[in-house]
Amino acid sequence: MIKSVRGTRDLLPPETAVWNFVEAAARDVFRIYNFHEIRTPIIEDLQLFKRSVGEETDIVSKEMFAWEDRARAESEKGQWLALRPENTAGVVRAYIEHKMWERPGLQKLFYIGPQFRRERPQKGRYRQFYQIGAEVIGPTAAGSESPAVDAEVLEMLVTLLDRVGISGWELQLNSVGDANCRPKYFAALQEALRDVVKNMCSDCQRRAETNPLRVFDCKVPEDQPIIEKLPRMSDYLDESCRTHFQAVQDILRSLEVPFVLNSRLVRGLDYYTRTAFEFTHGALGAQNAILGGGRYDGLSENLGGPPAPGIGFAIGEDRFVMAIQESAEAVSSKPDVYIAPLGAGMDREAARLARELRQHDVIVELGNESFRLKKSLETASKIGARFALIVGENEIKANEFALKNLATGEQITVPRAGLATKIQSVRG
Ligand code: HAM
Repeated sequence: MIKSVRGTRDLLPPETAVWNFVEAAARDVFRIYNFHEIRTPIIEDLQLFKRSVGEETDIVSKEMFAWEDRARAESEKGQWLALRPENTAGVVRAYIEHKMWERPGLQKLFYIGPQFRRERPQKGRYRQFYQIGAEVIGPTAAGSESPAVDAEVLEMLVTLLDRVGISGWELQLNSVGDANCRPKYFAALQEALRDVVKNMCSDCQRRAETNPLRVFDCKVPEDQPIIEKLPRMSDYLDESCRTHFQAVQDILRSLEVPFVLNSRLVRGLDYYTRTAFEFTHGALGAQNAILGGGRYDGLSENLGGPPAPGIGFAIGEDRFVMAIQESAEAVSSKPDVYIAPLGAGMDREAARLARELRQHDVIVELGNESFRLKKSLETASKIGARFALIVGENEIKANEFALKNLATGEQITVPRAGLATKIQSVRG
């Protein structure tokens, strides 16, 4: 038997109803905050992720699904392609490629789709997972650098969490500085690491040389006490980064969005500047980050585009669904009516009736004329239909139908024209 690939999974009904519920809620929220959908390809040039997420990050150095595409001619080299591990790089690439800065105002874009990381699978961690994300990006003159944008994005997330009924979350907030203050911090961090790095894991020894900030991603337990004592970016922020971060916090307080400051939060991607954040949720165990994001003011320029400060986030939809209280049963729809054709030639009549009812938005499951009435009624009950509608020769002649309420057992006769209204009047 061929099975699904390690780290991937099938999403089946009724659980898919929860996914649809989450996506519909997200689309509703994006609409009222004036975000519009962008769809970028799942395959991109590997170089895109190296230059944005960063070569030294775990995501790019360990977790990419990447391959050399077949060369077109003997003399040519194939292009290195990758399955996207995240969507911010693709959005910024598209922003540049389509000169989206020529459009008025800020680009407020959202996406919903699969991402791929070759991580060790565990609860809440998959190799194909889904993100619901958004990015706000634009020229500085359009206000893209403003702390008000950071606050709006964070407040929008709280609105979404409320709408889907996720409570018990914690917003962790930090500022990771910018191109101006980070070099001073890196120097201090490297200096501090010089004495202790020999006691750390081999990954950290490499990171200390190539990209010291990445030591904060280390998960090795023995390294944690050492990492705890390292200098923090928050002590090295320059005046403009400090003021920006303070303004974000002020607006959040006035919006009554609760947050905690976490100076260890550096996020596992290199493009971040200034505001960085994660929402965690207690019920999820080790993989407790339900979403993460932050600013990336230099990313567009890094990818060869114009200056275009931006900020965004991605929700881990798999984890979001796990945190939802609502049961799949509660959000998935059941048929309003099961049509039971009774006897030869009645499939045709049942199909016509089904078509009429569906035009009135009634959810119809069609039975089969070869079933006896008993089997039809049993099937109708098993699939959770509210009503059974019996379609036999006599009913067709009279143009009236027996409608049985499967919860109460009550059966009434309803003229054809009144069926949809009657069925809908008893909807749950
Ligand atoms: P990220 O923190 O790498 O950020 O991923 C965002 C969220 O995706 C995580 O908080 C987690 O919920 C979910 N996630 C990540 N990896 C997995 C996995 N293997 N299995 C299940 N869920 C996972 C980004 O991807 C950035 N692009 C976010 C962003 C947008 N920053 C600015 N704009």
